Amino acid sequence: MVQINENYLKLQAGYLFPEIGRRVREFQQKNPQADVIKMGIGDVTQPLTPAIVKAFHEGVDEMSKASSFKGYGPEQGYEFLREAIAKNDYQSRGASIQADEIFISDGSKCDTGNIQEIFGYKNVIAVQDPVYPVYVDTSVMNGRTGNFMGNGYYEGIVYMPCTAENGFIPEIPKEKVDIIYLCYPNNPTGTTAGKEELKKWVDYAIRNKAVILYDAAYESYISDPAIPHSIYEIEGACKVAIEFRSFSKTAGFTGTRCAFTVVPKDLMAYTADGTEKPLYPLWFRRHTTKFNGVSYPVQKAAAAIYTPEGRKEIRATIDYYMNNARILRESLSKLGFQVFGGKNAPYVWVNSGRGIKSWDLFDKLLHEANVVGTPGSGFGPSGEGYFRFSSFATNENVVEAMERLKLLKW
Ligand code: MLT
Repeated sequence: MVQINENYLKLQAGYLFPEIGRRVREFQQKNPQADVIKMGIGDVTQPLTPAIVKAFHEGVDEMSKASSFKGYGPEQGYEFLREAIAKNDYQSRGASIQADEIFISDGSKCDTGNIQEIFGYKNVIAVQDPVYPVYVDTSVMNGRTGNFMGNGYYEGIVYMPCTAENGFIPEIPKEKVDIIYLCYPNNPTGTTAGKEELKKWVDYAIRNKAVILYDAAYESYISDPAIPHSIYEIEGACKVAIEFRSFSKTAGFTGTRCAFTVVPKDLMAYTADGTEKPLYPLWFRRHTTKFNGVSYPVQKAAAAIYTPEGRKEIRATIDYYMNNARILRESLSKLGFQVFGGKNAPYVWVNSGRGIKSWDLFDKLLHEANVVGTPGSGFGPSGEGYFRFSSFATNENVVEAMERLKLLKW
């Protein structure tokens, strides 16, 4: 008798974004005339920029000729891309990450879940609450949790509330934890962490022989020079942190797929008997065994963002989205919402200030304004009462959505 992985039965409803999609489709079927504006899932709307498209085309052309055709590439990614990342994203900021510590992949969503494979099952995982749901749901799938409890938490995970009171930076947990997922600029709250705050976590990880899984998918939205773009800007982090980055939001690759994970060679973990082992060979083995690399034209396109034209162009796209974030922040504040984030991140996190639960606000906005956002409670119990707007919509849609919200009756 074939048995299922019963951990899947512990999962709650559908994954957050397909669930939102399902509700929106149902609404549209019943209201085909409604012009629905989507600011739910953080999916980009602006096209790939000319320098990226040119490199993409060149990659395809090379594949069309026997003399430059490429079959399987290196599983870890082409060196030209890893070198560009190491130099531009890390060494230029004083972080001594080398090209061979970088693993190119098809997405940070996959990597932040898959990375759990190289860690033992007795580790205690800590997550921010609210949290990008992938970290929790993959922990459940992998059998690292108990059941879902009435309070909205899974047994066996340490949840670290991120609230307006603590500036959305969690307190160091009282219990000992081994794997800490941190995401900055944060999804969903759109808030950031400074060097001092991150240093506390790095010091905790060093003291407790823990590992930080640092999701920096939104780092390119940071404009404040005081805010670190990488955990490796913090002293000691190379010994205790893995970092995830993505071209999805940086350069419009949500449909093109390219990301990377950094596993420094100095990063250590332990066997059950306490013997120190580097994590690098484990991830190298996992990645080269289960993954055959991102396609050559896509990696060529990704490398183009590090050219002077590429840089200028993606900066303009990021500025376009951040102008949307500004409009969202200003309009929602005027409408009486408490507004957070959206200054160094593309997400604007709001509380309606009217005591409305997240999913009720979702329904109200969908039905009365035909505007879609993401209910904060979908990211965890501490998100209840909050709502996330994504600034990745078109500018016209953001302006129109805010006009519609002005007309709402509360
Ligand atoms: C989000 O809306 O939180 C993101 O787009 C989801 C993702 O990047 O997977």
